[in-house]
Amino acid sequence: MSDDRERWALVLGASSGMGEATALALASAGCNIAGVHLDFRAGLKHVDEVKAAIEAAGREALFFNVNAADDEKRAGVLEALAARFAESTAAGRTPHLRVVVHSLAFGSLLPFLTDDPKTRISRRQLEMTLDVMASSLVYWTQDLFALGLLHETRIYALTSEGSTRVIPSYGAVSAAKSALESNCRQLAMELARAETGCSVNAIRAGVTITPALLRIPHHSVVIRRTEKRNPSGRMTTPQDVGEAIVKLSEDGLLWMTGNVISVDGGEFITGS
Ligand SMILES: NC(=O)c1ccc[n+]([C@@H]2O[C@H](COP(=O)([O-])OP(=O)(O)OC[C@H]3O[C@@H](n4cnc5c(N)ncnc54)[C@H](O)[C@@H]3O)[C@@H](O)[C@H]2O)c1
Repeated sequence: MSDDRERWALVLGASSGMGEATALALASAGCNIAGVHLDFRAGLKHVDEVKAAIEAAGREALFFNVNAADDEKRAGVLEALAARFAESTAAGRTPHLRVVVHSLAFGSLLPFLTDDPKTRISRRQLEMTLDVMASSLVYWTQDLFALGLLHETRIYALTSEGSTRVIPSYGAVSAAKSALESNCRQLAMELARAETGCSVNAIRAGVTITPALLRIPHHSVVIRRTEKRNPSGRMTTPQDVGEAIVKLSEDGLLWMTGNVISVDGGEFITGS
């Protein structure tokens, strides 16, 4: 990363898994981190550790423990970010939102069909999953655009092979991943037409051991299968994803937009 503006990354889902690893990798590469996460008391010690690691890399950690799908909370985060950028500008620096990462895992893992209708997914659960995991990317991008913060910004959203494959108990998340990839394409086109110089890409991570994966019923079967089928002989790590996003965010790659990019050691192409 070579320009001399004050680099910032906004990471949605910065306290765990892919978002945490990407926040740390981007901090090591010179970005201050605005992190959004949703954690209760038991998780707060870890959030402090993530912030401390960002600060140990010599960068600022501006974190918000809020629901990223709540319109008012989003407005509050963006107001605070804009105020922080204004401080830098007043001090003679040029803040630049270089990277946005959407890495929110918050979905229903209930099946569509069960013998007892009370145990199947409800309308509210299906809509909530789509709202957090897919639509929220659109609302954050709309507001960042309205604030004039999107200029040569690299936007990434974490997707999975569930966007094109069926996986038991993953119906709502699969739907969200299909919608998320579509949202990336649409935003890529609209941001290009608006001459922002931004890129928008979906990152299709391989199966990775994180708290979200461990919430999936029968995750041990998924892990065993992945270990067998990944042609590189191991599972993806959150660090694989963080490092790929740092490299993709280097200068000269903004013409790459509207893609689904696998970061999985070849797992997706095995097709099994
Ligand atoms: N783990 C995998 O195997 C895998 C594979 C491919 C893609 N992905 C995708 O990567 C993304 C991150 O997943 P992960 O495995 O790192 O999960 P994770 O559980 O480790 O982290 C999820 C993060 O999202 C935050 N979060 C969840 N809901 C939120 C909300 N409503 N508002 C604000 N913050 C919220 C959490 O606080 C946490 O920081 C997800 O979109 C997931 O579908 C995961």
